[in-house]
Amino acid sequence: MADYRSIYQRSLADPAGFWGEAARDIDWYKPWSTVFDGDLPPAGRWFVGGELNTCHNALDRHIAAGAGDRLALIYDSPVTGQKRRYTYTELRDEVARLAGALVAHGVGKGDRVLIYMPMIPEAAMAMLACARIGAVHSVVFGGFAAPELATRINDAQPKLILAASCGIEPNRVIAYKPLLDEAIRLSSHKPSACLIKQRPQAEAPLVAGRDHDWDTAVSRAQPAGCVPVAATDPLYILYTSGTTGQPKGVVRDNGGHAVALYWSMGNIYGVNAGDVYWAASDVGWVVGHSYIVYGPLLKGCTTIMYEGKPVGTPDAGAFWRVISEHGIKVLFTAPTAFRAIRKEDPDGKLLRQYDLSRMSALFLAGERCDPETLNWARAMLDKPVVDHWWQTETGWAIAANPLGIEQLEIKPGSPAVAMPGYDVRVLDDNGKDAPAGDLGSIVIKLPMPPGCLPTLWGNDQRFISSYLTAFPGHYLTGDAGIKDANGYLWIMSRTDDVINVAGHRLSTGAMEEVLAGHPDVAECAVFGVHDEMKGQLPLGLIVLKAGVQRDEKDIVAELVARVRDHIGAVAAFKQAKVVARLPKTRSGKILRGTMVKIADGAKWSMPATIDDPAVLKEIETSLKALGYPRA
Ligand code: COA
Ligand code: AMP
Repeated sequence: MADYRSIYQRSLADPAGFWGEAARDIDWYKPWSTVFDGDLPPAGRWFVGGELNTCHNALDRHIAAGAGDRLALIYDSPVTGQKRRYTYTELRDEVARLAGALVAHGVGKGDRVLIYMPMIPEAAMAMLACARIGAVHSVVFGGFAAPELATRINDAQPKLILAASCGIEPNRVIAYKPLLDEAIRLSSHKPSACLIKQRPQAEAPLVAGRDHDWDTAVSRAQPAGCVPVAATDPLYILYTSGTTGQPKGVVRDNGGHAVALYWSMGNIYGVNAGDVYWAASDVGWVVGHSYIVYGPLLKGCTTIMYEGKPVGTPDAGAFWRVISEHGIKVLFTAPTAFRAIRKEDPDGKLLRQYDLSRMSALFLAGERCDPETLNWARAMLDKPVVDHWWQTETGWAIAANPLGIEQLEIKPGSPAVAMPGYDVRVLDDNGKDAPAGDLGSIVIKLPMPPGCLPTLWGNDQRFISSYLTAFPGHYLTGDAGIKDANGYLWIMSRTDDVINVAGHRLSTGAMEEVLAGHPDVAECAVFGVHDEMKGQLPLGLIVLKAGVQRDEKDIVAELVARVRDHIGAVAAFKQAKVVARLPKTRSGKILRGTMVKIADGAKWSMPATIDDPAVLKEIETSLKALGYPRA
C-alpha cells in the first residue's frame, strides 16, 4: 500500500529512479540518456537526450489506444449561451488543421506564437497546435492592456499571433483587436501575420496583408502531424509578474512538464482517464496551462472550458450547475471564487438544487486560502477541500494533500506537505534552517523536480539573480512562511513586491512605474491591502510635484485610468490618495511593509530606521480617510 511519506522520501533519495519510472507513463520517440543532468546550465535539465511530442501525448496517443470517441473538451459558456463538446478525435482533427495553418504561415519548430484569446476552445487548440509542430506558445491573459501585450511581443518575438476578435465579460464585450493593433504598433518586433478568430459579438476589421481570418486559414490547411522535439525544448513561455514592470518569461520544457503533470493528475488530484476535471481559471494563467489544457488531456480526462464567472452568470449557483451537468469529479479554482459565491449564497441554497454526487474533491490555489472559506466550502460540499500551493514558475503543486496517494489530515490555513521532488526548506536571514514553527523564507533545495522552469526566456542571468542567488543552492519561491513540526507548510506572505488580487498575480512595482509616468507625480508607493473578497487590492499613495495645484479627484481618476490603460482592468487599481510625504528609512527606502500593516489594522511598531516618524502618523490619517483599516 503506497503512502505519501515513503513516496516523498524516495523522490528525494533517488530522483533519477523516481522520475525515470514516472516518465514511463509518457510516450517517447526516443528515450532519454540521462534522467537529470545537473551540469547543464543554469540549474540542470531533465530527460536529456529524450524526444517526445506533448500534443501527441495529449491527443493522438489516446486515440491510438482506442479512446477517440471519449470526450476531450467541453466548452460551457454562460456568457454566450453556447455549449460545445469535442471527442478526442474531433479535438485532434481541429488541432491538426490549425497546426497545418500555422505551418502554411511559415511557423516551425522553435518559432514563437503569441496567443491572446478568451476562454473559447480555439484557445486550447492554439496551444496544442503549437505543441504539435514544436512551436513555442506564449499565452497572454485577455485582461491585460496593449502595453503589457507589447512588452511580451518584444520579449518573445513571435512570428505569428493568434487572437480572437473579442472577449466577453458579464457586463461588456471587450474588443481584443484594437488592443492587439495598438500592441503591435507599440512593439518594436512585428509579427509577420495574425490569425483572427472572429466572434459574432464583435467582429474585427482585418489589416490587409497582415491579418487573416482564422476559419478560412484552417479550412484551407492540410492537417499537420506531430513533430518530435527534445525533452529540453521549450513548450511555452508564460509571462508572470516580478518586482518590476518587465515581466518574467517563465519557460516550460516538453519532457519534464509532461511527466510531472501526468504524475500530478493521478497522485495529487486522484483522477483517472475518462474522469471529468474542471479547472475554473483562465488559459492566460498557469492554472489554465497546466490544468485546463495539458494535465487533464495528458491523463485522458475530459476537461472543461468555462467562459463565465462564479457569480452573476447567471447566479451563485453557476459552479454547481456545471458540476452536476457535466459530472465533474474534481474542481480546481481560486479561493476568491468561493468567497464570491459565499457572499451571495451564504447558506448554500442554490447548491442544494444540484446533484453533486459525482464530485469527489475541491482543490484551491492561486492565493492563500483563509480557514473560514475552506471550512465553509467543506461544510457546503461535504467533500475534501484541498488547499495547495504553487506558482507559475513550478507549473504544478509544491505542496498539497495528495488525495490520489492518501488523504492526509486537512489543516485549514495550510496547503499541507511538500510534493515529491520538492525539498522545501524554511530559511532564516542567514540561510540557516529555521526551527519548526518559525517564520522564514521558503526555498526549494536544488534540483527542482521536472516541470519547474529551467530558466527565463532568453535571460539565464535574470533567472539566476531572481531565484538562485539569495540562498545559493536553493530556489527562492518569494513566499515567506512556516514549516510546522509535522512538515505542514503555512504560506504567510510574499517577500517581494508581488500582490495577489482575486488569485491574479500582480506587481506593485509595475503599477508604481505607471503612476510615476503621470506628469504631476513626483513619487509614489503602491502596496496591497487586505480585501474580504479578492484577498488583496492595490492602493496607491502619491506625492505631487511642487506647484501642482489640481483637484485631487481629477488626478486620482487619471491615475486609475492610466493603470487600466497600461496594465489592464485585471490590476483592479481603483484607490489612490495624494499625501504630502512618503515614509522612508534614513537610506531612502520607502516603508511599504509598515504602511500595509497600518492599512490592514495589524500591529505595527515605528521602524528604528525611519527618517521622520511624523510621516507615518500622516499616512495613518490619509489611510483613515480612505476607510483603512476596514471595520
Ligand atoms: N478579459 C478582460 N477583462 C477581464 C478579464 C478578461 N479575461 N478578466 C477579468 N477582467 C476584468 C473584469 O471585468 C474587471 O473589470 P472591471 O474593473 O471593469 O469590473 C477587472 O478585470 C477585474 O477582474 P476580477 O479581479 O476578476 O474581478 P471581477 O469583479 O470581475 O470578478 C471574481 C471577481 C472573484 C468573480 C473573479 O475574480 C473570479 O472569478 N475569480 C476566480 C478565480 C480565478 O479565475 N483565478 C485565476 C487564477 S486560478
Ligand atoms: P502564480 O504564479 O500566479 O500562480 O502566483 C503564485 C503565488 O501565489 C505564490 O508564490 C503565492 O504567493 C501565492 N499562492 C498560490 N497558491 C497559494 C496557496 N495555496 N497558499 C498561499 N499562497 C498561494
